[in-house]
Amino acid sequence: MTSLLYRYALAVFALVLCPPAPAQTSSAALASRAGTARTSLSDPSSEKKVDELLRKMTLEEKVGQLVQYSAGQPTGPGTGRTDYDDMIRKGEVGALFNITTARQTNAYQRIAVEQSRLHIPLLFGLDVIHGFRTEFPIPLGLASSWDPLLIEQTARVAARETSASGIRWTFSPMVDIARDARWGRMTEGAGEDPFLGAAIARAYVRGYQGARLDAPDSIAACPKHFVGYGAAEGGRDYNSVELSEHTLRQFYLPPFHAAIDEGAATLMSAFNSLNAVPASANPFTLKQILREEWGFQGIVDSDYTSVGELIAHGIANDGATAARKAFLGGVDMDMVSSLYHENLVRLVRSGEIPEAAVDEAARRVLRVKFALGLFERPYADEAKEASAMLQPDSLMLARTAAEHSFVLLRNQDFSGRGPVLPLSNQTKTIALIGPLADDHGDMLGSWAGQGRPEDVITLRTALIQKMGAQNVRYAKGSEILGGSDDQLVEAVKVAEQSDTTFLALGENAPEMTGEAASRAFLGLPGRQEQLLEKIVATGKPVVLLIFSGRPLTLPWAFQHVPAVLAAWFPGVEAGPALVRTLFGEANPTGRLVVSWPRSMGQEPLYYDALSTGRPPRDIDLTHPPQNGIEKFVSRYIDEQNSPQFPFGFGLSYTSYRYANLQIDKPSLSAKNLNDELHAKGNTRSTLLSVSADITNTGARAGEETVQLYLRFQGTSVAQPVRALSGFQRVSLAPGETKNVTFQLGPEAFAFWNDQNKFAAEPAHVTLWVAPDSSQGVQGTLEITK
Ligand code: NOJ
Repeated sequence: MTSLLYRYALAVFALVLCPPAPAQTSSAALASRAGTARTSLSDPSSEKKVDELLRKMTLEEKVGQLVQYSAGQPTGPGTGRTDYDDMIRKGEVGALFNITTARQTNAYQRIAVEQSRLHIPLLFGLDVIHGFRTEFPIPLGLASSWDPLLIEQTARVAARETSASGIRWTFSPMVDIARDARWGRMTEGAGEDPFLGAAIARAYVRGYQGARLDAPDSIAACPKHFVGYGAAEGGRDYNSVELSEHTLRQFYLPPFHAAIDEGAATLMSAFNSLNAVPASANPFTLKQILREEWGFQGIVDSDYTSVGELIAHGIANDGATAARKAFLGGVDMDMVSSLYHENLVRLVRSGEIPEAAVDEAARRVLRVKFALGLFERPYADEAKEASAMLQPDSLMLARTAAEHSFVLLRNQDFSGRGPVLPLSNQTKTIALIGPLADDHGDMLGSWAGQGRPEDVITLRTALIQKMGAQNVRYAKGSEILGGSDDQLVEAVKVAEQSDTTFLALGENAPEMTGEAASRAFLGLPGRQEQLLEKIVATGKPVVLLIFSGRPLTLPWAFQHVPAVLAAWFPGVEAGPALVRTLFGEANPTGRLVVSWPRSMGQEPLYYDALSTGRPPRDIDLTHPPQNGIEKFVSRYIDEQNSPQFPFGFGLSYTSYRYANLQIDKPSLSAKNLNDELHAKGNTRSTLLSVSADITNTGARAGEETVQLYLRFQGTSVAQPVRALSGFQRVSLAPGETKNVTFQLGPEAFAFWNDQNKFAAEPAHVTLWVAPDSSQGVQGTLEITK
């Protein structure tokens, strides 16, 4: 009953806050949806206002629009400048960030609007990554829902709360493709796949920016970090990146392009160098691709001091050169480094930078400020701020989002008694063990926005609410890092006295995940592996809950623990969502958006890899090579190639059968596909339908994420062994079968070819309708000339 009410409330919420979106996400659906909720940044009437204003501005005031400082809790090294009031009064600052309350934003805004010569409002930004006060699961968890509509709703709530504090700009979504779990910032994105990443990028932008950017509760999105940041060598944050133009275009750019196409008003340039040119001074990506090819009209903001960092990169020997290179490279606004502030006016006067280029950059900043309605409504309503936060419908959404983020990785008793989860309501006593079982702060993830630990309902609290304090035996067992022998002994005792043990283990969210949190070892930190092994040795049924911002390598656990759930960092409703899932009121639907490694040495690990010339076909990789046939293939001698769990994988409390793949045509012509692709102003047509029957073969209702994968062979460039081209969530009652159809447009059959053109080519195509990237029902298709 609760669950029904809950669903109903969610549906109402969805209808009120978000326009209904089609259930299908495939190339045709995505292409035709593009543009529906877009706010134009440059309509003629606001362009006129921008022109008028620009005419009145001095060079110093125009440069001022390009200057941004952190006026609150810094999120990186600062410049030591604190004279913001004075600078704002003189029109030397265009944007501030890291201030968080309506009172603070209004105070600065009053100076800008009432005391500066031209009364131009400031733009306030903040890292609102997965919620402002209502913290949702970390983005990696949200993405694991494979549910763009749900993600859009979370972004809408974030926009509602953020804007209530006068902040109209979020540095989100992070749409970096992340193929390496060593990279701490994997936690902030949507994982390894460009197709899913693009769908999710659009969802965030729609949610933040709403139907109209100038609505008081809309905030400007800022897809980041442009570009290649997730491909840092060795997974080490800020490290150099080498990507061929082909790989850049085919795998790393699509989520950015989708976000821009959806109308994102701003974009952030990255810290890394890309093919030896720092991304924050890279005219190829920032000018040619972003402005010329994609027609982006919004602001390019640098990342935090990334203009100044051009000196450390080695492409500038002084601040003036760094400012010139970043500016001429395509960065409009300088976050924190103060080099635009100090140098741009002089660089224009000396003729090293054309004034027209400063005009254009200032125009883009003013354009966004007009689009947000800041000139008409510069202030937040302080009286209404508190009531926007933690609304009941927002909390309910946070609980649903958390439930949909969990990925059930294992659920099988080793003695053949079947699944361990869900637990029956008859379970009498539970031992709740682990440093994350009653942890408030870490549940908020590494970018907690304004989320407060006291807003979090922990697993311990929720479990006690469900079972009564007398039936929940709690022991911390260890710290996340460190701990004592006494803690271990106590935990073992508690496990021995109970029917079932929940073990809540994992990473420390702020320190071990997120920015500047790359790891060279991906196991459980501290003494937690020891704790795990001691608890399993008690012989009691154990359910392992992994809290982390990335997959962790836990080979022992996957061989010895009957039930394992990836819980990520679930946000404020962590406890209730976990309890409902563990007791079966919610049936897990989450699917991995990153390949889960067996060992760290497999990284970078991703499913959409190329075949190589020596794929280890039909070779058993579970043991070292025993002859030349087993050896001289692309493999490790001491590890399997396959992941522990593949991209797209996730168990449920029911099971599904895939059958009867149908492809409605045996062939397509490349010429027709390319004609369709280039037809101007078309609403992209469906050229092929692929369908399969999905049956719920278990005893519970469930929601299955049905995935479509394609492979092209015989093409001008090697293509991935599989690439996601569609996904759909379907609800199935026990025993029910549904025919699931994917409608594919021309873009599903095109890729970046050897001329770096997006086009279709003659090819042999294999298609799979599948529960994950390692299996499925399969068929073929020919693309002829
Ligand atoms: C640096 C991070 O890379 C970026 O993601 C963030 O938005 C800025 N700091 C601002 O805090």
